[in-house]
Amino acid sequence: MNLDTDVIRRQFPFLKKLREERPVAYLDNAATTQKPQAVLDRLEQFYAEHNANINRGMHPLAEEATVAYENARSIVSRFIGAASPQEIIFTRNATESINLVARSYGELLKKDDGIALSLLEHHSNIIPWMQLSKRQGTTIDWIELQEDGRPDLGSLKNILKKKKTKLVSITGLSNVLGIRTPLQDIISLAHEAGAKVLIDAAQLIAHATIDVQELDIDFLAFSGHKIYGPTGIGVLYGKQELLQSMPTFLGGGDMIASVDRDGFVPAELPRKFEAGTPSIADAIGLGSAIEWMESIGVDPMRAQTKHVLAYARKKLESVKDLKILGPTSGNDLLGCVSFTVDGIHPHDCTELLGQKGICLRAGHHCTQILHKYLGVTASTRLSVAVYNTEEEIDRCIEEIIAAQKRFRK
Ligand SMILES: Cc1ncc(COP(=O)(O)O)c(C=O)c1O
Repeated sequence: MNLDTDVIRRQFPFLKKLREERPVAYLDNAATTQKPQAVLDRLEQFYAEHNANINRGMHPLAEEATVAYENARSIVSRFIGAASPQEIIFTRNATESINLVARSYGELLKKDDGIALSLLEHHSNIIPWMQLSKRQGTTIDWIELQEDGRPDLGSLKNILKKKKTKLVSITGLSNVLGIRTPLQDIISLAHEAGAKVLIDAAQLIAHATIDVQELDIDFLAFSGHKIYGPTGIGVLYGKQELLQSMPTFLGGGDMIASVDRDGFVPAELPRKFEAGTPSIADAIGLGSAIEWMESIGVDPMRAQTKHVLAYARKKLESVKDLKILGPTSGNDLLGCVSFTVDGIHPHDCTELLGQKGICLRAGHHCTQILHKYLGVTASTRLSVAVYNTEEEIDRCIEEIIAAQKRFRK
């Protein structure tokens, strides 16, 4: 089924407004996506008609808010194939989800226990483990990359042979090279060695179906704002028995069953990990973003996005003196493509394009270790969502060529 991009674009007030004022090609979707009217309406409706704090109230509004919040949890649970909504913890974002695991599961680890990370990782999936090393004396082992940037499973096998790895924490899709990592193989290898697996799905969640039970994922982290949902809401999935075995993270209201002078008894899952008033409206907004995606058709959306990315990659490849980072072909390339242009710093290139309404992103994209490994300090990234068109890509390419001409003068 082919999607009508015009019909989709009309559902995004941001794109409509920009189109009227000046043509903008928003190609920075790996950073955050635009929000459809359905999500904006749901947020407004919640605040206008149902706003109340959850769990604690006895009045009908509190009940309505609680039902809507828990309904959002059920939608997320279904979306990723969890066994139960109790396995879904609402956080602020993917970063907080990973920090929750590093803080809580990390407390169960001992000196010299190993965490395996790949060189592809975003800082959100590095720093919490470095902090854990400082606190607990755990070690970090780096999964090397093959020449083309794909993770080297031989390197993972060597790490796992040492028998001290407790967790493999790896991205499902690189936010720079746009490589989907071979999760099935990685998870099998980790489990055979007795290690748990955390998948940073911040990028993958927008571009591929994830079934946590089918893949046997132990922990999964993602943010709502990268799948057309609001900012301020993230998800941590964890297998129930694992979450139950872990100590509490943040302390405060809502996460306790009881408190007395001697201490507290944690609440049952998922509230055990949701201290304080959560982002109620944003969780509900995330639920509506997922329902919106399902109403369009998740598979056709992903096929459309993949098609536009493949088009962008082909066009970029044809630009002289432009180098694409990482592999240039393969069915595992999704979401984004990063590149450098000879003689133009990525910041200059991206700024010049920005002046023409082409929204890309320049920098190290929170992957300094990967950039160092690639031998560059920064790159320009183009990332796609369901509303992007080939025409936008063509404009982007024209402006890159115009920037090259300007810099050659
Ligand atoms: C691969 C990856 N992991 C984690 C994150 C962190 O996401 P957030 O800033 O929403 O927590 C990002 C953000 O771009 C990402 O691309």
